[in-house]
Amino acid sequence: MGKNVVIIGTQWGDEGKGKIVDLITDKVSSVVRFQGGHNAGHTLVIEGKKTVLHLIPSGILRKNVNCYIGHGVVLSMTALLKEMNELEDSGVEVSSRLKISPGCPLILPYHIELDNAREAHRGKAAIGTTGNGIGPAYEDKVARRGLRVGDLLDEDLFSEKLKEVVDYHNFSLKNYYKQTPVDFESVLSEALNQAKIIKPMIMDVADELHQQMDNSENILFEGAQGALLDIDQGTYPFVTSSNTTSGGAVTGSGVGVRDIDYVLGIVKAYTTRVGGGPFPTELDYDVNTDEGDPVGRELCSKGHEFGATTGRQRRCGWLDLVILNRSFRLKRTSTPPFSAEGYSAAKPIYIEMPGWKTSTIGTHSFGDLPKEAQDYIKKIEELSEIPVDILSTGPDRDETLILKNPFD
Ligand code: IMO
Ligand code: MG
Repeated sequence: MGKNVVIIGTQWGDEGKGKIVDLITDKVSSVVRFQGGHNAGHTLVIEGKKTVLHLIPSGILRKNVNCYIGHGVVLSMTALLKEMNELEDSGVEVSSRLKISPGCPLILPYHIELDNAREAHRGKAAIGTTGNGIGPAYEDKVARRGLRVGDLLDEDLFSEKLKEVVDYHNFSLKNYYKQTPVDFESVLSEALNQAKIIKPMIMDVADELHQQMDNSENILFEGAQGALLDIDQGTYPFVTSSNTTSGGAVTGSGVGVRDIDYVLGIVKAYTTRVGGGPFPTELDYDVNTDEGDPVGRELCSKGHEFGATTGRQRRCGWLDLVILNRSFRLKRTSTPPFSAEGYSAAKPIYIEMPGWKTSTIGTHSFGDLPKEAQDYIKKIEELSEIPVDILSTGPDRDETLILKNPFD
């Protein structure tokens, strides 16, 4: 029997999902993206060489792995082709190994215009989106007016549908947001040109995955963003527009609920968040003015906490077990935020633990970690009642300590 494992982020993204996906991909035949789009930024470091992926699954750097983009992903052809070219320039074969579902909603130029116009319109209440058109593309999907990858197969029909959608969005761009409307002809010709490269990669992804399961292959489902950015369960409205929690792997790829064997949640040892929204344990620090909390400053600089997609400074703070357990859906810690008084009335409980000053980079056995680091990990396990399987001690593929491989 093959095994199907889902990897998701448990905080607000940037937990290091891509690295872990790449690491355990040596055991799988396929890696599948199932939600989000090129808002993701997954940084992989292999023997010192850094690659940043946004849309292409992190299995691409392992030669024999098939990569799939499931129908839950919103697809920008511009972003995909850029990423493909960069990878192929550096010697990584993509086009023959990447398959795209015809059900993926397309991100087209007006989605980006709308994303930016909406953010500007919100002013101080802006979400702080990546500006990649993610939200508006998902809106079109749910409104049942969106264009999908499969629509590219019939140029006349594509053109007809596009005209209608462009008219619709131009109306609000022009009249409501007072922005320049997009030009139908240029959107059309650009899309049809890009489609020439995309078309050979279109395939019934769900069907392929089921065939692989029949052949007892292992499959890895690569989540993007984090549980607290989930459209339904996150810190709404400061969220992304897809289901970033484990159920998204099912709805966004076409496998069944019972096909998932294991969910690996990735946790950063502290907390970060990019963009707006609540962050209870934030240690507020601003890199531009170099003002704010000194610990926040240290986390930001030592952790290189700048976005892989937008380059923005990430907000940093203490590890928050309450939100983590919310992601794990345990709600069993002694902290009271889920009591009847509600979150605002709850008093946080701080646990202070002794730190360590020796480097842990590249440590390959748990026992070699400083005692304080071991205690920190054990405390997380104790308070979450979830065992730690893998410890990342640095960005490189090799800088990892595997206690239990989910595919074993
Ligand atoms: P990875 O996969 C961190 C955040 C944005 C913004 C909110 C909505 O690298 O963990 P969107 O453009 O999605 O509509 O923006 O979601 N966001 C991320 N934050 N990591 C990500 O991806 C993110 N993708 C989106 O900063 O607050
Ligand atoms: Mg990232």
